Amino acid sequence: MSNKIDVEVREVGLRDGLQNISTFMPTELKTAWITAEAAAGVPNIEVCSFVPVKLIPQFADAMDVVRHARNIDGLAVSALVPNLKGFERAVEAAVDEVDFVMSVSESHNKSNVRRSPEESVEDFKRITAMRNELPPDRRPKIVAGMATALGCSFEGKISLDAVRRIANALAEAGADELAIADTVGYADPALVKATFDAVRKDLPNMTLHAHFHDTRGLGLANVVAALEAGVRHFDASLGGLGGCQFAPNATGNINMEDLVFMLESMGLRTGVNVEKLVEVRDIIRKGLPEEPLTGAVAKAGVPKGYDPASLHSA
Ligand code: COA
Ligand code: ZN
Repeated sequence: MSNKIDVEVREVGLRDGLQNISTFMPTELKTAWITAEAAAGVPNIEVCSFVPVKLIPQFADAMDVVRHARNIDGLAVSALVPNLKGFERAVEAAVDEVDFVMSVSESHNKSNVRRSPEESVEDFKRITAMRNELPPDRRPKIVAGMATALGCSFEGKISLDAVRRIANALAEAGADELAIADTVGYADPALVKATFDAVRKDLPNMTLHAHFHDTRGLGLANVVAALEAGVRHFDASLGGLGGCQFAPNATGNINMEDLVFMLESMGLRTGVNVEKLVEVRDIIRKGLPEEPLTGAVAKAGVPKGYDPASLHSA
């Protein structure tokens, strides 16, 4: 993370949002979105998923999208992978960061990647083994993500012990960083604080990322709880695009514009210009005119006297 920012926000709408939308967003609009959002200051964008194209045709152009994003100066380019084959494709594309995903909930993991959580941990070991064989300059950073760590639409509550067990297993298997995800929007601030505190206690040197959905309106409250637990990496999507195929009525990720506005107002530098960010919504509207977008700042504008932290030096 650059020393000019306090919190790294990462755009995930091109992956988490688009994976649930059957309308194909034309490649030139995906790349225009990436260019415009990077120009607004977003330092890291998850640009695609390396999953079978038959399963999610939206990512048929993954290689082209990554190629475009890699040419943007200073942008960290990340991509999701669910297995070794996905990792091989991500290495070929030369992304900076690979987001491995598995679910803590057994039923969700089986539905999503057709494996038990234990089998996914074994898959992850194959990925880190391959990473270790690569020359150092070709090794992407590996962030291991735990989906449904804060609740599951099949199983309801998820035990903290299960989250700790998987977090420890992924760390031992060689994850560079870990992400804790509220995939279906079940979390509340107390649960968030307890979960991040527990994982941090087990793994004091591990960088933790938070990935929240706003399905029940608690997304930004959960961010504040995670900030209190020391988290400085947050996923969000422009316009709150997204959902989850296994959670009826699940809404998208927390809204990027509102997240940036909140952090900047709290004195935490993100490096992002919220007004420029709001303008990028037009690209999504053009590509996906049917998709509803969320966002309070986009609607109301910033308040008079808004004094973003990023305009001040450290
Ligand atoms: N990218 C491209 N092709 C892949 C692939 C990948 N990551 N993983 C597997 N394949 C191919 C295999 O090569 C094989 O091809 P073939 O039929 O031509 O031989 C075929 O897909 C089946 O491979 P298999 O290992 O049996 O995969 P699977 O059918 O059990 O599917 C996953 C497993 C993990 C690939 C699939 O369930 C998946 O992608 N899940 C993720 C879904 C998702 O993105 N969810 C939302 C994100 S959280
Ligand atoms: Zn998600």
